Amino acid sequence: MTATFSLDHARSLDAADSLAQFRARFAIPDPLLIYLDGNSLGRQPLVASALAHDLVERQWGNDLIRAWNHGWLELPERIGAKLAAILGAQPSEVILADSTSVNLFKLAVAALRARPGRTKILTDDLNFPSDFYILQEASALLGQGHTLERIPSPDGIHGPLAGLLAALDEDTALLSLSHTIYRSGFTYDLAALTAAAHAVGALVLWDLSHSAGALPVNLSLARADLAVGCTYKHLNGGPGSPAYICIRSELQSDLHNPIPGWMGRDDMFGFQPQYAPDPSLRRFLTGTPPIFSSALIEPGLDLILEAGIENIRAKSAAQTAYFIDLWESLLKPLDFALQSPTDPTSRGAHVALSHPHAAAIDQALIHAHAIIPDFRPPNVIRFGFSPLYTTFEEVFRAARALVELTASKSYIPFQITLPKVT
Ligand SMILES: Cc1ncc(COP(=O)(O)O)c(C=O)c1O
Repeated sequence: MTATFSLDHARSLDAADSLAQFRARFAIPDPLLIYLDGNSLGRQPLVASALAHDLVERQWGNDLIRAWNHGWLELPERIGAKLAAILGAQPSEVILADSTSVNLFKLAVAALRARPGRTKILTDDLNFPSDFYILQEASALLGQGHTLERIPSPDGIHGPLAGLLAALDEDTALLSLSHTIYRSGFTYDLAALTAAAHAVGALVLWDLSHSAGALPVNLSLARADLAVGCTYKHLNGGPGSPAYICIRSELQSDLHNPIPGWMGRDDMFGFQPQYAPDPSLRRFLTGTPPIFSSALIEPGLDLILEAGIENIRAKSAAQTAYFIDLWESLLKPLDFALQSPTDPTSRGAHVALSHPHAAAIDQALIHAHAIIPDFRPPNVIRFGFSPLYTTFEEVFRAARALVELTASKSYIPFQITLPKVT
């Protein structure tokens, strides 16, 4: 290995890292475990543990129903406002609710109803499965003859930008895309595509699951209409933590929640049988929010706000570039193929590599090297870099482990049945 590809070099990158101090703010009970799956489930901010204790013991245990008047009722919009600061939106434009999948449904139906007479829904073939299922079901339920067009990616890595621009027309009601693709990590130019959709009068619905907390999104600058995303990945909100809904201010009063519930009604404690939506974004709430898991999102958001999303982006771009350099020199000759963009401006915070023995290599990394990436069938391993706790030394060690176990074929005993969560 050359000087650049040495442990010493990786350590020198860590020594110069202005975000290095944030690692100590996360629970890392096993410092030898290299966790490269923060793009699926982020690590636990240390503060979350004391907060969980307070939520159970004091807020629930002692305050009981009174706690709704001590902040629980406003939790969806209060945490939403912090998220808005990360996403570059106005505080009143983001609210916590449900899961990403449910929020996609709510916003897709609302958007299609807001563009009557238009029947085309556009997406790409790289989108997350939930997004396809929901767009299909939303159009079927409306019964207005909508069709879902899945524009194919040219190479399975990059989004089909030219195809999407060519398909956008006066019949398009909605363009719905993942901003960062879950598999390849390709990131669209959100502002440019939003402008192109607006030029033909269509609405745009972004799934920010793999972008939020990893890179600046600047929703307001782009005049983005609608967005959803989850909080348990780069936002470090905890397993199954609620998702969020973003709606541009000017659109809020025109959009109707297709799953209206008492939590979204104007004067919810009036208990009226007729629905009247709350004037604020609360109109997109349905039922009682999960208070514990909503509250536990805040410590992760506070760390991101303290570190600054631009600084986080700069470090993750450096880490993905470093890993790609390691791939080019050390892993490409061992049959690993890059399944992520080489252009750093269109790459999120994870890098995907394919290999004919990817499943066994993934298991060998986990069980023989204490390195956790994740596997996506049939042959892709994703390596997620989380600038607040991933070190350059870990990036280097991961590449070195890949070299060792592939060159020696020591992954062969791991050609076994995979566990459900890979
Ligand atoms: C891009 C994307 N969208 C949607 C989802 C589903 O989110 P949820 O389980 O909150 O519905 C995921 C989950 O990983 C995802 O990666």
